[in-house]
Amino acid sequence: MIQSVRGTKDTLPSEISKWHFIEEKIREVTKTYGYKELRTPIFEKTEVFSRSIGENTDIVNKEMYTFTDKGGESVTLRPEQTAALIRSVVQNNLTHDISNLRLYYIGPYFRYERPQKGRLRQFHQFGAECISSPNPEADVEIILMANKLINRLGINQYTLEINSLGNDASRATFRKELTQYLNSHREKLSVESQNRLLTNPLRVLDSKDSNDRKVIENAPNILDSLDEESKKHFESVIKLLDTAKLDYKIEPNLVRGLDYYCHTVFEFKSNSLGAQDAFGGGGRYDKLIEQMGGKPTPAVGFAMGIERLILILDSIEDNVDLSDKTDIYVVCNDEKLFGVSLQITEKLREKNYKVVSDLNRRSFKSQMREADKFSSKFCIIVGDDEYSRNSVIVKNMQTSEQAEIAIDLLNTITFK
Ligand code: HAM
Repeated sequence: MIQSVRGTKDTLPSEISKWHFIEEKIREVTKTYGYKELRTPIFEKTEVFSRSIGENTDIVNKEMYTFTDKGGESVTLRPEQTAALIRSVVQNNLTHDISNLRLYYIGPYFRYERPQKGRLRQFHQFGAECISSPNPEADVEIILMANKLINRLGINQYTLEINSLGNDASRATFRKELTQYLNSHREKLSVESQNRLLTNPLRVLDSKDSNDRKVIENAPNILDSLDEESKKHFESVIKLLDTAKLDYKIEPNLVRGLDYYCHTVFEFKSNSLGAQDAFGGGGRYDKLIEQMGGKPTPAVGFAMGIERLILILDSIEDNVDLSDKTDIYVVCNDEKLFGVSLQITEKLREKNYKVVSDLNRRSFKSQMREADKFSSKFCIIVGDDEYSRNSVIVKNMQTSEQAEIAIDLLNTITFK
């Protein structure tokens, strides 16, 4: 038997109602904020990601599915959407005649990571990007929309962590200070953090290693390095979040794993996820569009992992009922009545009921058993006797009550 690739998962029919539920809520919420969907190809030229996410990030360094195609071009399965979306926005000149471009997306993404709970090699994200506003209102709109979705899904136990990476100048000051501090404790750091210190020192702050954590505890605080402009932006974001009565925790060690961020960064975390506790994250990226060949345009956005949302939903006890009930099961095991049964079935489907019937000519008993298995609310039994009187038996499967009903009257009954 051929098995699926490690770190990939089939979404089985028994699980699909959760996906549909989440997708439905995404479309519902994004619509109320005026966001429109944008879809890009699953793969892009490799430079779309290497240029934007950063050569020294784990994603670009270790995790991309990159290959040379038959024409000799290096292409990459998208590890995230932001860079590809910006490629499309620039290429299609989408910012041309609109003051704020609001876009969202849902789809599969690929990262060659070590698979574990909530971490896959093919996973799915929902995300949104708000393009063209440099102002804190945009950061807050994005955070509020992400938060609204989380709440609409029935998720109440989570934390929103927020931080500011400041503008380029603030970040350069902080990087210098941090490097100096970390260098003075170099020998206490893990090998991985020692390497990061050389290539991407801010990422050391993200380390989960317990020895690294002790060093990080006394590291300089990025918020102390913010210049006036950066401080003003962050304070306005916080004030607006307060106005919106949203709970948050300021986390100065939150740096995120992609290089394109500036100013606001944030993450949504849940206790029910284990080591991979972030189920959503994002931030502002004012330089990316210019870097990708567009006119200088500020932007802010976020993405959430759908598999992680599902893990959280599964951990909630009094969850929304997502069971997939059939309205009506039509039972018939008399060959000469198959045509009648088919007509009844089709008429009910015409009225938007979910109707199934047996296709394997099984016994009456097996069909009734299957009606139970489908959690059918009603059964319609098409039998010789009743048909001679132009009627069928309708059985309410929850109460077990049944009655003989004229076929012509079936369209007057509500099967709910
Ligand atoms: P990210 O933090 O790399 O951000 O990914 C966002 C979310 O995708 C994570 O919080 C997590 O839920 C999910 N995720 C990431 N990797 C995996 C994986 N291997 N398996 C399962 N789920 C995963 C970004 O991708 C940015 N593009 C977000 C953004 C949008 N920033 C601005 N705009």
